[in-house]
Amino acid sequence: MCGIVGAVAQRDVADILVEGLKRLEYRGYDSAGVAVINNNNELLTTKRLGKVQELAQALEQQPVTGGTGIAHTRWATHGVPSEVNAHPHVSNNTIAVVHNGIIENHQTLRSQLQGLGYEFLSQTDTEVITHLVHHELKTSDTLLSAVQKTVKQLEGAYGTVVMDSRDQDNIIVARSGSPLVIGYGLGENFIASDIMALLPVTRKFSYLEEGDVAQISRFKVSIFDTNGEPVEREAKDANVSHDSGDKGEYRHYMLKETYEQPTAIRNSLEGRLVNGMLDINTFGEGADEIFKNVEHVQIIACGTSYHSGMVARYWLEELAGVSCNIEIASEFRYRKSFVPKNSLLVTISQSGETADTLAALRLAKEIGYQSSLVICNVPGSSLVRESDLAFMTKAGAEIGVASTKAFTTQLVGLLMMTVAIGQHHGMSDEKQTEITQSLMSLPAKLDEVLALASSIEDLAEDFADKHHALFLGRGDQYPIAMEGALKLKEISYIHAEAYAAGELKHGPLALIDAEMPVIVVAPKNDLIEKLKSNVEEVRARGGLMYVFADSDANFASDDTMKVINVPVCDDIIAPIVYTLPLQLLSYYVAIIKGTDVDQPRNLAKSVTVE
Ligand code: M6R
Repeated sequence: MCGIVGAVAQRDVADILVEGLKRLEYRGYDSAGVAVINNNNELLTTKRLGKVQELAQALEQQPVTGGTGIAHTRWATHGVPSEVNAHPHVSNNTIAVVHNGIIENHQTLRSQLQGLGYEFLSQTDTEVITHLVHHELKTSDTLLSAVQKTVKQLEGAYGTVVMDSRDQDNIIVARSGSPLVIGYGLGENFIASDIMALLPVTRKFSYLEEGDVAQISRFKVSIFDTNGEPVEREAKDANVSHDSGDKGEYRHYMLKETYEQPTAIRNSLEGRLVNGMLDINTFGEGADEIFKNVEHVQIIACGTSYHSGMVARYWLEELAGVSCNIEIASEFRYRKSFVPKNSLLVTISQSGETADTLAALRLAKEIGYQSSLVICNVPGSSLVRESDLAFMTKAGAEIGVASTKAFTTQLVGLLMMTVAIGQHHGMSDEKQTEITQSLMSLPAKLDEVLALASSIEDLAEDFADKHHALFLGRGDQYPIAMEGALKLKEISYIHAEAYAAGELKHGPLALIDAEMPVIVVAPKNDLIEKLKSNVEEVRARGGLMYVFADSDANFASDDTMKVINVPVCDDIIAPIVYTLPLQLLSYYVAIIKGTDVDQPRNLAKSVTVE
């Protein structure tokens, strides 16, 4: 979603701001803009519809100079994507504002401000902040105090940065519901919505907490909490590679991240298995005590992360003997739910900032969940900071909007969690060892799967002219079928649905014809004979099938079926192994269709609004 970068420095900051925006492009956006204060205390604003590159070109043709500036990539919520609606928004040629989030009471504020004579140029909710700050400044000594008064009147979510052309020395930032991180330099300081934006200029960061307002100048950062009291927010060095934002030899981030999975999983396992046994401290302090008391697990997540949670439910109930429910965060947060005794709330999120998942975690604390654990890829993110325990997936930065390595490392974390909880519910040492050994065999197994890429690329040709596809799986492969369908629809724009294969005859069988390719995930397991019956049901209706199966499953290609041989693997890790061919299939279909693989239309990487 929207991205923010800001800087207070002695050098010209326009290039730093634009580079920061480029590094946030992966989040998804439709327009971009920058504003700097020049030496004559003038506000110079440039905005463009479309890619950051358009903005960069505009700035090349008409450069702006100045050491204090803010920049933004916008993902439209209120008002169409357009230059007028792009940020920064400006009031009276002095106050400039960028904002992530949604101001829910913007209509009321807009009417009040119009009554005071303010003229609105855009359709955005953000513009109310701009005029409100301008208005409050009339009765405030400082910009800081005007912003503090302004945010008290805002309802909804914001991460916002404000500057005043008459004050080159400071920018004011405020956070409530949308993350902001301060970057510390030498004689210069920065703000961004994501550390990725600032990696070329600093490695030292501190996250603002909910309700914080901060004044950032070149040599000083002053942070105030929701009551206006000065507070310290610990600054830490980021353990992220500068180059994690580069595509390297790969054509797209998604492909790079797909190929990174063996390494990502190695990193995820490293140091967590001691002599083949799980080190419980990997989940954080007090994890053993918490897991000991767990009688029920409630998993909450969205999108791809929801699918990994669905797999975990099979594992928790079958391997750990603990009851488990899973629900989509946006549903969970708006219904009254029953909380079983000694329940652990598990949230799963690549970004750690998904608005609905965060709201669900906060709700869970109010309604009696005993404790919480997050499976997450971003250290220091809101979900990590607000959960009792955290398993960091260590997948490395994931830039492609379509989640790949974050998903498979989430599954690794969830399998480790199953062992950690299972230890207290009678899981034998042999079973624990079997699971950890399977986990350790994963990276090599995934390398074998990646070697199938060229045959999957050939297969993708068959999908180029199709408008629909059906994915089928059973048991813990049903969520993998769902994940396969999500990947295909989000990057190739082909409508895809997943069904538990046993549901076929309850409706979807009516859709089967030669125009509806059916993708079947079919490792040899206890359900394979049942699945084969479902395959026959499709065949009998003239359906065309693409079956991902190991040699033990005994499928053979014929006129109605193409079989892609996946390496034989342990049942436990099969959901992870079978994910990769489906990722590759969607990738190659998207390539043929010529879509924007890394930034599919209408989507954002980190969904920080509900
Ligand atoms: O950051 P999160 O894991 O919480 O994000 C949840 C979903 O928005 C995300 O998984 C989304 O579905 C991806 N685009 C899937 O590829």
